[in-house]
Amino acid sequence: CRVRHYKFHVVAKSYTKLCSSKSIVTINGKFPGPTLYAREGDTVLVNVTNQVNHNVTIHWHGIRQLRTGWSDGPAYITQCPILPGKSFVYNFTITGQRGTLLWHAHVNWLRATVHGALVILPKRGVAYPFPKPDDELVVVLGEWWKSDTEAVINEALKSGLAPNVSDAHTINGHPGSIPNCSTQDAYNLPVESGKTYLLRIINAALNEELFFKIAGHKLTVVEVDATYVKPFKIDTIVIAPGQTTNVLLTADQKSGKYLVAASPFMDAPVAVDNLTATATLHYTGTLATAPTILTTPPPKNATQIANNFINSLKALNSKKYPANVPLTVDHSLFFTVGLGVNPCPSCKAANGSRVVASINNVTFVMPTTALLQAHYFNIKGVFTTDFPSKPPHVFNYTGTPPNLNTTSGTKVYRLPYNATVQLVLQDTGIIAPENHPVHLHGFNFFIIGKGIGNYNPTKDQNKFNLVDPVERNTVGVPSGGWVAIRFRADNPGVWFLHCHLEVHTTWGLKMAFLVDNGKGPNQSLTPPPKDLPKC
Ligand code: C2O
Repeated sequence: CRVRHYKFHVVAKSYTKLCSSKSIVTINGKFPGPTLYAREGDTVLVNVTNQVNHNVTIHWHGIRQLRTGWSDGPAYITQCPILPGKSFVYNFTITGQRGTLLWHAHVNWLRATVHGALVILPKRGVAYPFPKPDDELVVVLGEWWKSDTEAVINEALKSGLAPNVSDAHTINGHPGSIPNCSTQDAYNLPVESGKTYLLRIINAALNEELFFKIAGHKLTVVEVDATYVKPFKIDTIVIAPGQTTNVLLTADQKSGKYLVAASPFMDAPVAVDNLTATATLHYTGTLATAPTILTTPPPKNATQIANNFINSLKALNSKKYPANVPLTVDHSLFFTVGLGVNPCPSCKAANGSRVVASINNVTFVMPTTALLQAHYFNIKGVFTTDFPSKPPHVFNYTGTPPNLNTTSGTKVYRLPYNATVQLVLQDTGIIAPENHPVHLHGFNFFIIGKGIGNYNPTKDQNKFNLVDPVERNTVGVPSGGWVAIRFRADNPGVWFLHCHLEVHTTWGLKMAFLVDNGKGPNQSLTPPPKDLPKC
């Protein structure tokens, strides 16, 4: 194991895409940002220097941060932002994890342009539990706005309405060929006939789940969210913001060019960016003038295609990589996730109301002191520990509750060290049923059940998979349905849980777990680093 040093300079850079230019916030001038490589067991030190006129934090999405919650990154949850001109060193050790994750800014909407891949190789001398690929390629999916993304969300908050959708999706920063723009800007994935590639696919988009497929080629799924799965072959994968998927791709054609397509998945009547990002799988030796073999992306409401993928995911559960599902439950929680409408006298565009989002009818209010600091230094009045374990009244996934308004507060749910938690996440249909990719910081969890309609404890828990459920850090709560997850609270600190559609996070679909220190050795949060930004 070794120590890896990285330098992240947060700098503005001008990019031209979709036939228009704008200055964006980047890491080291790159979009997507640099790929960070490490091995399981390594310690990673990233010195982040803020050289733009915008607050910055970086989150290492999916990294467990065992006892090092100070380096987790969400603004006002574990740290205060790195102010313009200041720097902070993120310092964490990668324990018991290997695979593909992502890093991204975690303040306002900055992650639109500040994100990149985090590749954790197995320990030296440890093989993958699947045939060794000849090569590896990182594929970062994203979104591009012609306008400034901070302006997009600020405008929406003022009007009370939904923000504009993006102007294109991107594959490794390139949209492909886009209507109304004369310049073709597409990414080329170079492959050699007969070779097998490990594609590390990441969805770094702000607000959209994506389908991903390659013309004429099947994908063998081997890993999601840096956990190994039982390999299976499929045409189309679906990937939510914050999720990662590793697939093996065998270049089993002789030559040619094949379309790679990333297109939106949204099975709800809400506005999405309908454009398909395209790239080309390009066999070496193929003439540049050769025609590209096309593929049709699924329609955006192709729930069946999404489910074919999601329902195929099972933990590898081998001797070496067992699925350690908690078999008993100390805290059984039921959270409703969805949208609501609150009064907003200044919101002219929406007739005096604004769209909000909530968990158990609580719209989370961001504090001005980081929760982890308030907890560690015992600062009173920053948060309360009364986050409800169930909703205040029945939220039917189809019907309307007695009252559309939500309550608000900075509430956390407190867990003793090592408690086992079962959490059922139920989508509400208050405005419309919608798929919510919910992400938990600091833990992986097992997805033990999933269904459509309202969760029914007596019926549904008999069908839970406690043997080989897939282990993830971000789960799609199905539109008009529910998922059940389990995890062990073996990581002291304050851990954010939120919808990874950034617009829903902004609207308040978020809360935090506070996990107490244990009594044994190595069961306490480490003291804060000296350079931790002050609030
Ligand atoms: Cu990738 Cu709190 O997010």
